[in-house]
Amino acid sequence: CLGMHWSSMMILLVLKCLSQIIFYCICFAFQMQTVTIIPGDGIGPEISTSVIKIFEAAKVPIQWEERNVTAIKGPGGKWMIPPEAKESMDKSKIGLKGPLKTPIAAGHPSMNLLLRKTFDLYANVRPCVSIEGYKTPYTDVDLVTIRENTEGEYSGIEHVIVDGVVQSIKLITEEASRRIAEYAFEYARNNQRNSVTAVHKANIMRMSDGLFLRKCREVAENFKDVKFTEMYLDTVCLNMVQDPTQFDVLVMPNLYGDILSDLCAGLIGGLGVTPSGNIGANGVAIFESVHGTAPDIAGMDLANPTALLLSAVMMLRHMGLHGHAKKIETACFDTIRDKKVLTKDLGGNSKCSEFTAEICRRVQDLD
Ligand code: IPM
Ligand code: MN
Repeated sequence: CLGMHWSSMMILLVLKCLSQIIFYCICFAFQMQTVTIIPGDGIGPEISTSVIKIFEAAKVPIQWEERNVTAIKGPGGKWMIPPEAKESMDKSKIGLKGPLKTPIAAGHPSMNLLLRKTFDLYANVRPCVSIEGYKTPYTDVDLVTIRENTEGEYSGIEHVIVDGVVQSIKLITEEASRRIAEYAFEYARNNQRNSVTAVHKANIMRMSDGLFLRKCREVAENFKDVKFTEMYLDTVCLNMVQDPTQFDVLVMPNLYGDILSDLCAGLIGGLGVTPSGNIGANGVAIFESVHGTAPDIAGMDLANPTALLLSAVMMLRHMGLHGHAKKIETACFDTIRDKKVLTKDLGGNSKCSEFTAEICRRVQDLD
């Protein structure tokens, strides 16, 4: 009886190994890349499931490796992301992330920011393009904000000088300013865009924004085919709400980019429909929805997965999977334009799962 037990255990083990080997052979044969998926908090798991389903329907040749990101304290009390998530990203180099909740002004720091810092994802890219059929006061918006993602006002260097007086340091370096400027110009060149506007307040922050602006000007010299302009942040805000069509690629320090990218998202319908990518050196990147965790509707099948889906489409283009990207994007935009199956926030009455199923159906029809 014991012999039987052992032999069946052995058979099971061999079968398990065999299935693993077959799986890796298939991945290799079809050149399947691994992508780390971080579903996130609140509505994160629902919208992640939606993207996974749509990718399945579009037969995207990737395999997902799911990892949770929670705040943990490492040696010396330093906040870090869990090692399993770090190892997965180190291997895959590409991540897709839902929203992660952040306590306000206390507790652990934002895990969203820690991820950007951990992998040195220095460029935050948010294309804002008007969506046909989703009405806002603006039409024909077609611009991209490129935000320095590692320093500036987000350096997190703050201290109390004396009781009642705190100081926060806005750190600007030549190196980070140059690389984000180079990223913006290269982005413009590679994406058939004509102009780059540097957004700054060098009239007030003379040294820090002055350095940022100087680097943009220097880099512009090497990209004569791309038009370069510079503009104060407040002027950009004013002009943006009056006529956003005058803008193309905008490059700016961290906090300006955070605020201006929300403003631009507002022009096309909000954070629920705006994609975002955080790009680092050597192809490392995390794509993410930048809306909140929406705890009030979490688990109710009401969330809108569009922002995460369009971020995933950006990810596919980053990976060179242009055909799959186009198919999914078309299916998503067609669904929104037809207005038959929409989530509540988009003006419809459908569940997240129904909206997802509709996009899946259209993706398959496009085959
Ligand atoms: C964003 C978000 C983050 C930021 C938060 C979640 C830390 O608003 O990606 O724009 O401020 O950068
Ligand atoms: Mn933001």
